[in-house]
Amino acid sequence: MENNMSKDIEKILFSEEQLKNRVKEVGAEISRDYRDKNPLLVGILKGSIVFMADLIRAVDIPCQIAFLSVRSYGLKAASSGKIDMDGDIDYALGTRAEGRHIILVEDILDTALTLNTVSNRIKELNPASVKICALLDKQVQRNIDLLADYKCFDVENEFVVGYGLDYAQNYRNLPYIGVLKREVYSGD
Ligand code: XMP
Ligand code: MG
Repeated sequence: MENNMSKDIEKILFSEEQLKNRVKEVGAEISRDYRDKNPLLVGILKGSIVFMADLIRAVDIPCQIAFLSVRSYGLKAASSGKIDMDGDIDYALGTRAEGRHIILVEDILDTALTLNTVSNRIKELNPASVKICALLDKQVQRNIDLLADYKCFDVENEFVVGYGLDYAQNYRNLPYIGVLKREVYSGD
């Protein structure tokens, strides 16, 4: 389907169909691993929202959801290395993390700085466990020792958008994941 966003996309990496099928598989894995554990799935805003919406419908055991607002990229296409995450986490989650089995749901694990910070802050609240579920895993830039416990796909060192992922807050509503043309962000 042609639209005015697709002209900025170099190539489609994962189609709607591929995303649907893979998210179902990961949802089934989580359902199997967390039976009787009533996990709390915590989506990292805003990038995780589309993934989260599909993932929870692929999980067929009782679970709860919450969201945390974390910001690392600003408007640029490269990691700023700075994580804004202030305040009372339990309050932000709307529920207590203590004793809960937490699954952090992230759009993409890149340097892993974001999730390392978030998971360390959550661990201070004495949850029963903390695991990471990433839609995409971009391992090339990782110098922190942090791996995704669940992931849908690996990606190379390319800037990807769509299915929740943005560039300067745009493209989140593309139903597929694509590589953004370099000329779109080459000014950064
Ligand atoms: P770190 O480096 O902390 O970064 O693991 C995670 C956050 O950075 C954003 N990010 C991207 N966003 N396309 C995007 O739209 C990308 O290729 C990309 N790489 C990293 C993303 O917000 C993620 O939560
Ligand atoms: Mg994000």
